[in-house]
Amino acid sequence: MAKQLYIETVGCQMNMLDSELVVASLRKAGYEVVDAPAKADTILFNTCSVRQHAEDKIYSALGRLKHAKTKNPHKIIGVLGCMAQKDQKLIFQRAPYVDLIVGPGQLHQIPELLDKIAAGAGRQLEVSLDRKAGSRAEIEQSFESYDPLRDPAMRPTPFQAFVRIMIGCDKFCTYCIVPSVRGPEQSRPAAHIVAEARQLADEGCREITLLGQTVNSYKHTADGRTTRLSDLLAQLHEIEGLARLKFVTNYPKDMTDDLLEAVRDLPKVSPYLHVPAQSGSNRILQRMKRGYTVEQYREMLSRIREMVPDSSVTSDFIVGFCGETDEDFALSIDLVRASRFKNSFIFKYSERPGTKSVQLYPDDVPEEVKRRRNNELLAIQNVISEEDNLPLVGRQVQVLVEGPSKAAQRHDDDGPVVQLVGRTHCDRIVVFEGNRRQIGQLLDVTIFDANAFTLFGSVVTQHVGPEVYRL
Ligand code: SAH
Ligand code: SF4
Ligand code: F3S
Repeated sequence: MAKQLYIETVGCQMNMLDSELVVASLRKAGYEVVDAPAKADTILFNTCSVRQHAEDKIYSALGRLKHAKTKNPHKIIGVLGCMAQKDQKLIFQRAPYVDLIVGPGQLHQIPELLDKIAAGAGRQLEVSLDRKAGSRAEIEQSFESYDPLRDPAMRPTPFQAFVRIMIGCDKFCTYCIVPSVRGPEQSRPAAHIVAEARQLADEGCREITLLGQTVNSYKHTADGRTTRLSDLLAQLHEIEGLARLKFVTNYPKDMTDDLLEAVRDLPKVSPYLHVPAQSGSNRILQRMKRGYTVEQYREMLSRIREMVPDSSVTSDFIVGFCGETDEDFALSIDLVRASRFKNSFIFKYSERPGTKSVQLYPDDVPEEVKRRRNNELLAIQNVISEEDNLPLVGRQVQVLVEGPSKAAQRHDDDGPVVQLVGRTHCDRIVVFEGNRRQIGQLLDVTIFDANAFTLFGSVVTQHVGPEVYRL
């Protein structure tokens, strides 16, 4: 009988991809995926450590399983990913009924480790070396990129896929845990990436999102030739069947002209750039060790606007970082006002044990102030998002249809005509009425209303021509 697997994933797109790949390998090993921990004999959590809140969520989910494990000691409970790498044995201490701890660099070992546990070998722990535990080569080797064959059933949709182009991060922003849990920055060979993308396109994939913590730092040298992200995009652009190419997340300092030229000149590349600023204050940026000034960030942004005028740019901000004063925060407001991001993700600073900022500065902005600044910045961003969505009313955009909207799913609407949701080339969400068979298609939609987060449209029935849509 098939073994029943339940997997829960938190964190970034890198984690979603990792879970997809773990599930693919376990399906091959005879597992079946179920939708509730109670139905499963193997329960896996793919975890995130970027903020305290993400970890708390997992520890409380583990807490809820204590009872299930007492009732059925054969249930296997595993913790994978970034928190596994960060907390390691500590997880066994906090939740002694956990059987398996696997870091992001050892995910390929999971089927074998589960077999061992089932055979009575006791609990298993596999993690990578600490970033100071050896030479760079040794540490790099201990973080293995995990990119085996894909499982279409675990993708966000069958016609969209993530493809990893690099792992790790070497930027060491002082607040950030990622470089220590994901290891050194390593780019994958371009030929492997292109082969994977080709396979996905053959399986019916229309949109590929390239993933890297600093995706635009991608650089791989083989046979004396160096491939940059712009070169890689040009190669991927040739693949028949693919309609859209996206890439996240960009590092402001590495936003080079060759990349912007690729975005401008290659019609399949989405005119959408996620380039987190983090703060508008030079004093804070320096404390964060981001490696640029706000003037340099603004210069980069004007280069984007000049070279790819119809692109949408999005950002991340941290509010309440150590020592952030009202004046510093006001500078973040200025930057948000001036930049007109399509949207911004705003986070309250969360102190991460083991990061540089813990050693250097006290976490001295009160929670209440962090919350207020978060709300304030978000409110300003939302006004801008709405103002910049409204001019799209009356215009026609091309939408890749992703599936029934959340509302349609909530109402269990199972007729052929439902509310559908999709995205424009520049990553705006569009909701419209359509037929289920249109899921996965590229459709022309006329926009009749908009708010800060969503465009509302209706499908254009008559095709108007082969123009290239940049919206
Ligand atoms: N590699 C990406 C994303 C890193 S994590 C990048 O360089 O932008 C995603 C976002 O989480 C970051 O952009 C940052 O805004 C936020 N973040 C990271 N560490 C954080 C911390 N300790 N507290 C609060 N937010 C944090
Ligand atoms: Fe973290 Fe900075 Fe690396 Fe992004 S660039 S993952 S914020 S250290
Ligand atoms: Fe979280 Fe790890 Fe991604 S810490 S944000 S899941 S790289």
